[in-house]
Amino acid sequence: MNGPLVGLKVEETADREEFRRAVLDGLSARPRAIPAKFLYDARGSALFDEICELPEYYLTRTETEILKQRAAEIGRRAGPGCALIEFGSGSSVKSRLLIDALPELALYAPIDISREHLDATASQLRRDYPNLKVDPVCADFMGPVPPIESRGRRLGFFPGSTIGNLTTGEATAFLRNVRALVGDDGALVLGADLKKDPQRLHDAYNDQAGVTAAFTLNLLRRMNRELQATFDLSAFAHEAFYDEAEGRIEIYFRSLRQQTVTVAGQRFEFAAGERVHTEYSYKYDADDLAGLAEAGGFRLADIWTDPERLFAVAYLESIRRT
Ligand code: AVJ
Repeated sequence: MNGPLVGLKVEETADREEFRRAVLDGLSARPRAIPAKFLYDARGSALFDEICELPEYYLTRTETEILKQRAAEIGRRAGPGCALIEFGSGSSVKSRLLIDALPELALYAPIDISREHLDATASQLRRDYPNLKVDPVCADFMGPVPPIESRGRRLGFFPGSTIGNLTTGEATAFLRNVRALVGDDGALVLGADLKKDPQRLHDAYNDQAGVTAAFTLNLLRRMNRELQATFDLSAFAHEAFYDEAEGRIEIYFRSLRQQTVTVAGQRFEFAAGERVHTEYSYKYDADDLAGLAEAGGFRLADIWTDPERLFAVAYLESIRRT
């Protein structure tokens, strides 16, 4: 018998194995790093929802406000009969703003790696919009996405500054993927956090209440639970700072002393002060976004911001291949 794996569904076993592989590889590499997507187990997702409510974390509320202001304009630009394709179906609050504003919307297709999350989102939307066709797609949007059946223009939606987690190379690859999916007359509504006063950025990732620290350290908890790891949570600390030259927040967990930790039966030495990278959060300006759009096969058709210029919602249109 499989001991700890008994009772897990097939998908859960595959997810667990992917997590184990990524952690063992990431802790063996130099510099050490674990991909950001593993921060989002059930507790991590709940902590991220809490982050979105923090006074220091202006991103979510600012983007929602911009979308409220511009939804009608986005609806006019996109035109009637679109299919809305969302990458990483997050807060349905934002999706609803577009669903409400897009005339004769033909289809809403949220793409997400979490089956559970997708099913919950889809059934709630079907209840609230009985006439809307909702086709959830279970996939990692960084990889190949299964074909989506739709007529009319395809409008991608990638809100929440999720693009900030991606390096320039990854962001370009992602946009090319989206460009292929939405086609020659497609478009993408993209939410990106803007470059600004470094102190403001620093505070957004080092909140007074310590929720962001709990979010980072939850990854250690997850390793303890799912990979039989022996991390002492009081012997590691969350670290986040803005690297102005790179235009990104960098996030790590740092070992507060020299220690040995066992993960999935393997021993790892941590020097005092040694850190493990968990996230980037890239910040953009209008020129960065125009350049990124172009590298991905789009042009920056419009860009909207708030009065304090904290956050941007960009409308990218496919560059037609001639
Ligand atoms: C979900 C990637 C948009 O970068 O602001 C927030 C993640 N990490 N606080 C961000 C995050 C710590 C967040 N994104």
